[in-house]
Amino acid sequence: MSAAEFEILHKDLMGRIGKFRTGHGYVETPTIMPVINPNLITINADEMRKYGAEMVITNAYIIYKNAELREEALQTGIHSLLGTDMPVMTDSGSYQLFEYRDVEVSNAEILEFQRDIGSDICVPLDIPTPPYVSRRKAAKDLETTLKRLSEARSMIPPRGDRMLAGVVQGSTFMDLREESAKGAAGIGFDIYAIGGVVPLLESYRFEVLLDIIMAVKRHLPLSVPIHLFGAGHPMLFALAVALGCDIFDSAAYAIYAKAGRYITSEGTKRARDLQFLPCACPICTSYTVDEVRNNADLLAAHNLWVTFEEMRKVKQSIKEGSLWELCEMRCRAHPAMVTALRRMTRYSAILERYDPVTKHPFFYLSECSAHRPEVMRYSRRLNRFRVSGNVLITTSRSHEDARDFDHVFMIKPPFGPYPVELAESYPVGQAEIPAPAERIDEDAKAVALHNVLRLLELNSAKARFVLRCDRNWANHPLIEAIKKYAELQIE
Ligand code: GUN
Ligand code: ZN
Repeated sequence: MSAAEFEILHKDLMGRIGKFRTGHGYVETPTIMPVINPNLITINADEMRKYGAEMVITNAYIIYKNAELREEALQTGIHSLLGTDMPVMTDSGSYQLFEYRDVEVSNAEILEFQRDIGSDICVPLDIPTPPYVSRRKAAKDLETTLKRLSEARSMIPPRGDRMLAGVVQGSTFMDLREESAKGAAGIGFDIYAIGGVVPLLESYRFEVLLDIIMAVKRHLPLSVPIHLFGAGHPMLFALAVALGCDIFDSAAYAIYAKAGRYITSEGTKRARDLQFLPCACPICTSYTVDEVRNNADLLAAHNLWVTFEEMRKVKQSIKEGSLWELCEMRCRAHPAMVTALRRMTRYSAILERYDPVTKHPFFYLSECSAHRPEVMRYSRRLNRFRVSGNVLITTSRSHEDARDFDHVFMIKPPFGPYPVELAESYPVGQAEIPAPAERIDEDAKAVALHNVLRLLELNSAKARFVLRCDRNWANHPLIEAIKKYAELQIE
């Protein structure tokens, strides 16, 4: 059986629900792989199915270093060692390289080992360069990583039943990230993995993470799943999926539990501060708050439930076309997430190219909604409105003298002008915005008036315009420019 063949079933923004084939069956994405620690022999990875896992990840290097585990893995295979026939991805020890700098294995050795124990997705020994190192170091590490990627591909050829991940590095240098992605795409992998971002996650530099994802995505094929290494916190799933990440791994569920932390999709709480259990998972509904607070196993189980719950929410929102709304909701939970959402609006023009043309009614949830891909698309398409004669553009619902005009446009922020005939149509007519419209925030007003201006500029040769609005609109700085093309009537 040939692995990969990523089939995309639904899309929203750059996010997708897809399905790919491994040597141990199909996996539906977006998905999260719980990290299985091979030293905890009590672990039965198959347990992870009940939370919703379709695939797990473990560390080949830790197994390789432990004589007993190594023998067992070589004799019975990784699936038997972990007690599951789910697809298993194995990491190479790169992370150990990053954390402790002492990896006593070569790229070829650890790949051969991954192959011999029957891993479904193998990972080369890439070098995870930390953020904000010198450019020289980042470039030198990247050169080594790319050599190892080539070597790995020659050992694990495409179209077998074993998949190989092309890891992308380059630290916080966006041009190196691009070079890394281009290099990996040139070699050709069954999945691509964005590495070296854990320190950014730990320091809440999510906006830098967004830049990295966007730098990388534009050079990777759309037809291959993308793994974001080390992003296990559910708070980030909506954003990362919206930018086109398909696979995540979580050691967070266990690490946080050991540190007495209770994960929610809005952030993390200290378990000892909990007076109530604000969750409906099987753990939180069958144990008392005292029992959960002091028990790392119960905390880990709760953490897994909410992690998978969030991924199901993300999938449902892709299906219904409301992923942007979910991003906005999640990004209200922490100031660093607000920064990330603002950064995402910078990429709206790119997102717009992938985003389905019609979907869920547009909900205006914050000033970031003014910069959504749908709004950009609307603005870009204003040239489809060709008008001539007398044209009324109005913020008011009543226009008894409409008959005196050849065309009547209403204004709805953040979109701006739309013909009355489209009052029920997607996206403008169906958009839900806060009332009253003239009190909406400055971003929405500015975008709306920019679009008015654009409509005027596009049609000024053949049409005479009247802009009728109340003082809330008339005081806007853009009105000066608009007055060059339209007669202003203040109501
Ligand atoms: N786990 C977390 N980050 C990384 C990375 O950059 N590379 C690999 N191989 N594993 C990781
Ligand atoms: Zn719970």
